[in-house]
Amino acid sequence: MPSPATSWSPQSWKSFPTTQQPVYPDAAALDRMLAEIGALPPLVTSYEIEALKAQLAEAARGERFILWGGDCAESFADCSSAAIASKLKILLQMSLVLVQGTRKRITRIGRFAGQYAKPRSAMTEVRDGVELPSFRGDNVNRPEFTHASRTPDPQLLLRGYERSALTLNFVRSLVDGGFADLHHPENWDLDFVKHSPLAAEYQKMVDSIGESLRFMESLAGGTLAQMQRVDFFTSHELLVLAYESALTRQVPRREGWFNLSTHLPWIGMRTNASGGAHVEFCRGIRNPVGVKVGPDTTVDTLLDTVRTLSPDNEAGRVVLISRFGAHQIGRAFPPLLRAVRDAGLHVVWVCDPMHGNTETVVPTAGEWAGKSVKTRKFGHILAECEQAFEIHRAEGTVLAGVHIELTGENVTECIGGARGISEDDLSRAYRSQVDPRLNYEQALELAMLIARRAAPR
Ligand code: PEP
Ligand code: CO
Repeated sequence: MPSPATSWSPQSWKSFPTTQQPVYPDAAALDRMLAEIGALPPLVTSYEIEALKAQLAEAARGERFILWGGDCAESFADCSSAAIASKLKILLQMSLVLVQGTRKRITRIGRFAGQYAKPRSAMTEVRDGVELPSFRGDNVNRPEFTHASRTPDPQLLLRGYERSALTLNFVRSLVDGGFADLHHPENWDLDFVKHSPLAAEYQKMVDSIGESLRFMESLAGGTLAQMQRVDFFTSHELLVLAYESALTRQVPRREGWFNLSTHLPWIGMRTNASGGAHVEFCRGIRNPVGVKVGPDTTVDTLLDTVRTLSPDNEAGRVVLISRFGAHQIGRAFPPLLRAVRDAGLHVVWVCDPMHGNTETVVPTAGEWAGKSVKTRKFGHILAECEQAFEIHRAEGTVLAGVHIELTGENVTECIGGARGISEDDLSRAYRSQVDPRLNYEQALELAMLIARRAAPR
């Protein structure tokens, strides 16, 4: 573990054990690209980052609820008006449902505007005796199984930066233009909600929006005009450290360094070693930082990581994202939760009910009969959320939010939900290159069920 006295710089991670980093054959080309990115404007501001940190601290005290969601991986091809708008719509609709259920203000965080790089369990992939680097996301290499496509290309980092900026620009314009105006939730309807078994329940909520608005306004102590604007924050898995350090800067009139590629970077399960390069990098930035916590996390590692990231025990700084799976959370989570609580560490607990519940099924009928397909069961996702609420309640701690992989599209990637998507339905509209996401209706349904669970008792 680096001691707090060890000097930090945006490059100090280089002398720590690194994992999951692409190997670029042309180091000079990478350096040129990083210098170019390093001279470009930041994607977010330190002011926004500090505002998010303050909101996260409120959520940890139970005064807010965090809705964090988006694709497992963004793709360059999906940087389109329709895909971005439908992602915003589903997050807005879910937050509308959650505000009614929880009676709390909602902080919306997108897994977007930078969620391009993916961790992989193997460095290489072998097909028919040919071994090539694994596909690591659109800002690293290309998915086609050829040597040229799979070779990491530094140009893609710049394209990823630009795609992030385009996404963010459109999100900000939509929000500023009144798209997110809570007074007009009827504008957010997506066509197929009309055919959903949940349509009536959702309509009831839209009809009672007036009441919920008044409620929010009284909570916020704000006027109608102030309530019209709804903010979105951005987040992505902090993976390619060379890219992240090129966007890590000092800003006038504020102490310290900020990673200005996103508001809330998180460290994934495969890179969260307490003495590793990713933790070292995050130690020196002022952003709030997420850390995934799973069945393999030990009490010692977790305490060590939290103390390294937050030596001053700053509220809102460390977000611990639990992802155990419905079958393991009951056994594996409480000891970790108690240890953090008993050590008096300020953390923000969020439940990710997706990544511990991934499984492979083999449909027996339909186009994919006999093939292995990666999926998740809605029942398991819901069960993990419900157990997370129960465990926090029992331990006297706060579940501050949820972190979900979803899309605003009508895909068939996860099994179950009110429409009863079956294994044999998966082939119909399975579009994810990586993890299976909740579709629009399943995401809205999950929000409704969480809202019931989170209702003040
Ligand atoms: C993810 O959030 O997409 C992810 C890879 O999660 P984890 O690190 O928890 O496996
Ligand atoms: Co994922």
